[in-house]
Amino acid sequence: RDLGGMTFIDLRDRYGITQLVFNMDTDSGLCNEARKLGREYVIQAEGTVAERSNKNLKIPTGEIEIIVDKFSVLNPSELPPFTIEDNTDGGDELRMKYRYLDLRRNILKQNLLLRHQVAQETRNYLSSEGFIEIETPVLIKSTPEGARDFIVPSRVNQGQFYALPQSPQTFKQLLMVAGYDRYFQIVKCFRDEDLRADRQPEFTQIDCEMAFVEQDDILAVFEGLTKDLFLKIKGQKFEKPFPCMPYAEAMEKYGNDKPDIRFGMTIHDLTSVTKGSGFQVFDKSEYIGGICAKGCGEYSRKQLDELTAFVTKPQIGAKGLVYIKYNNDGTLKSTVDKFFNEQTLKQWAGILNAVPGDLILILAGEKASILNALGELRLEMSSRLSLTRKDEYAPLWVIDFPLLEWDKETNRYYAKHHPFTSPKPEDIPLLEKNPAVVRANAYDLVINGVEIGGGSIRIHNKNLQQTMFSTLGFTREQAERQFGFLMNAFRYGAPPHGGIAFGFDRLVAMFAGLNSIRDVMAFPKNNAGRDLMIDTPSAVEDELLKELSIQVVTSKDS
Ligand code: AMO
Repeated sequence: RDLGGMTFIDLRDRYGITQLVFNMDTDSGLCNEARKLGREYVIQAEGTVAERSNKNLKIPTGEIEIIVDKFSVLNPSELPPFTIEDNTDGGDELRMKYRYLDLRRNILKQNLLLRHQVAQETRNYLSSEGFIEIETPVLIKSTPEGARDFIVPSRVNQGQFYALPQSPQTFKQLLMVAGYDRYFQIVKCFRDEDLRADRQPEFTQIDCEMAFVEQDDILAVFEGLTKDLFLKIKGQKFEKPFPCMPYAEAMEKYGNDKPDIRFGMTIHDLTSVTKGSGFQVFDKSEYIGGICAKGCGEYSRKQLDELTAFVTKPQIGAKGLVYIKYNNDGTLKSTVDKFFNEQTLKQWAGILNAVPGDLILILAGEKASILNALGELRLEMSSRLSLTRKDEYAPLWVIDFPLLEWDKETNRYYAKHHPFTSPKPEDIPLLEKNPAVVRANAYDLVINGVEIGGGSIRIHNKNLQQTMFSTLGFTREQAERQFGFLMNAFRYGAPPHGGIAFGFDRLVAMFAGLNSIRDVMAFPKNNAGRDLMIDTPSAVEDELLKELSIQVVTSKDS
């Protein structure tokens, strides 16, 4: 800042900003040299630290300045493509292209410092609990975690490929067989899947496994870790144990398996009380459910139209929205007045705990999709009504997940978690007769509607693992080819074991109060899976492809 008589420089390093002062009266030569410096120059300065007359108490170094005696330019800089300030003028793409400049910004620096702190604290905690960190390989064979694998061709084994790990799942189980009864690793995982704010193609897990444990032991240790991190990172204490909610209850009451329990507005089943009045939409529906939005009885036509537009979006998929306004005078007004009298509407209001001044929102259709739509509507209402605070945390364990999931497209079962997850012992007899109802020893840690982590007690018996593979439609040969190494290991005294993995990026983003995990990663990819800075993925030299005997065939449409 050139103020004529005085020139000031904000000198930034990792630790903050220090103000340098040059005075025209005391050293005009030096001051004129300083006036030639530009943004982002790298300089070295010497001088006297002095108390500032004009203090800036907003920054830690704002009470002092350095009156410079001499300085030198270590490296000049071109004008950066965007301003490197908290409020920058650079768009997302530009900042990703020049990520090293973006990382100079205080906001991102704080996020990376936080990330480091969470990693350190995790290592300390788990080490103190007797866990040891063991690295597992990155060039492996497919691990079925539900996404596609990234594959790497082998030059020395022509025509053959490695897969990058979707997680170290099989290796951590092998470590249990090997006798390392408490393992952890802060580890990169790779999944070729559609990207979202909380998903990156490469991300980091706090991956853990324990031997000779049951579900409660795992929940206790990782609830301990979570509480320790909250205390050390956020200074927040959780006195009570985290609540546990069965998957079925989460789906029925919240419409998804990662409920945000910071607010109520739970879903209520109205199927039995809404049928048989000649209203075709309800009479033909498998399920009718509703939520009660407190204090929204005065919603305008426009607001209700917006909600209808929301639930009928293709991603939400409802056919329409039925609403009941519970007026302040105790009367009820609904879109289905023709079919239901006021007494019936009052009965529904009773089920939903609605009182005068509230708004009841009802959807009807196929059960699973309506529960999902009501879950989304519930979240939409919470954001419209600002029902949640970012700094309020509501963790819970979701337990008793189903073991399997039916896929309509491929007409087969898939493992809901992964194929190594054990069924509840009492449900094992159902595995062959009625696989859909078998519950798993699987659990997720959910905080504020985000799935932070998930894990399970594993199958450690070769025959049960074989049954599981055949339920999933693997022939004996396919199972042998893909997972023979694990089933072989189970022949040599495999201990009962289980584990969990936390999404490390999601955990850090939550502590930082951010929705996108990109902001807590040094070099993330964009939504198309591209790194704009190094411009990848990209074509490789023909020579390299030749060595690998790979030919790239471009389809006509691309
Ligand atoms: P799961 O697949 O549930 O379990 O993954 C564990 C946690 O990792 C995080 N996560 C992701 N984070 C960012 N980007 C992604 N693409 C992504 N995918 C997953 C989530 C999730 O809860 N091997 C098992 C764990 C076990 O059974 O022990 C596993 O990987 O926070």
